[in-house]
Amino acid sequence: MKDYRVLVIGPRRGLIDELRERHIPFSIWQNRHVFNVSAGQKSVIAPFWNSAEKNREQVRKSFPGQRFTHVIAGTEASVLPATVARRQVGARLANAATGTRCRDKLHMKQHLAGFGIPMTRFLEDSPSQDPKQVFAELGAPVVRKYRKSSGGRGLTLLERPQDYLPGDHGDCILERYINAPEASVESFINNGAIQFANITSYHSKGYCNFVPAVLDKALSDTLLAMNERVISALGIVWGMTHLEVYLTENGPLFGEVALRPPGGYIMNAISHAWDFNPWAAFVAMELGEAFNFPEHASQFAASEVLYPGAGVVSAVRGKSRVLDEQGVREFRLKVKVGELLPARTGFGHDTGYVVHASASPEERLALHELIKRELIIELAAPEVAD
Ligand SMILES: Nc1ncnc2c1ncn2[C@@H]1O[C@H](COP(=O)(O)OP(=O)(O)O)[C@@H](O)[C@H]1O
Ligand SMILES: [Mg+2]
Repeated sequence: MKDYRVLVIGPRRGLIDELRERHIPFSIWQNRHVFNVSAGQKSVIAPFWNSAEKNREQVRKSFPGQRFTHVIAGTEASVLPATVARRQVGARLANAATGTRCRDKLHMKQHLAGFGIPMTRFLEDSPSQDPKQVFAELGAPVVRKYRKSSGGRGLTLLERPQDYLPGDHGDCILERYINAPEASVESFINNGAIQFANITSYHSKGYCNFVPAVLDKALSDTLLAMNERVISALGIVWGMTHLEVYLTENGPLFGEVALRPPGGYIMNAISHAWDFNPWAAFVAMELGEAFNFPEHASQFAASEVLYPGAGVVSAVRGKSRVLDEQGVREFRLKVKVGELLPARTGFGHDTGYVVHASASPEERLALHELIKRELIIELAAPEVAD
């Protein structure tokens, strides 16, 4: 085995498990405490910065003089620090412009629009924008979101020009609203070529993902072709990507692409649908190793992300009913009766999940409906002031 030394920035459970399993020595940079390390391993808890200079400074401070063969980013916010760190620690280099573009929705869209990738109309939010003009160009409602956000955090809908104060919100992008179902494409890339791609449909946005999606051949070919053009336009030569698309009646529109594994337990669903460990494949891509991908999916999997909303949990019903189901492969509840839950802060915020797999799309849909019906995290009725 080669002498790998990996720096993980933004650790994810499956990634850490895989590195441990392979006995690859690694250090961790996490922005909040998520992982404990074993003896002899190093873990630094420090913020991920949006500025290259600050990240550089952090690497100098946290890993002085240390060398690594590879730097692996596991989360959205760690993509930019990883791009910077690779150069500093002597690791395998990725295209620096790719990292910045993948981190900034405006730059990403400007770049890809130049390659003819179809997408919804967008504008930069800046103090010089004229609200009436913006609405005339984009239509109502206007979507405003942070350029460097993820998981749907900080997204607002502006209904009328009066609602829009140009540039008052920090670095944002403005977009024409798209009313359409969404899907994503997960790719594993090595040697500048896509080795494997999976299409996921967001059966219920932020709550339920179907892996693989069931689409007609023409549409899935169009999605895979768009995915390939985006990856090549961004100069992504290796790693894992998660591309989001809107499936409009007039054809798919590009949403965004992330240079990291997806959230929403899509990785778990991939493992059951395609019968391979996507974290092992991710590590292989990052290390530039070959990986044996399957030709066909063996099951129709889904991930169900549980979050009941804000309130005090009064009961959890249907656990055993769900566990009785043959198709249920993973089930975890992270909530207790009596717990006070805040409003959901983003798609990464959950109180548990179920991953299931079925032999047919119909059985998958039925199992999804059953879980939705039976598994209930009940909230106490809010107290009403008299
Ligand atoms: N222009 C838009 N029209 C309709 N829905 C949108 C639009 N932009 C974002 N959304 C919704 O918000 C979600 C999150 O937005 P996205 O651009 O993917 O940012 P991120 O995932 O980085 O927070 C999308 O998956 C989609 O459901
Ligand atoms: Mg997104």
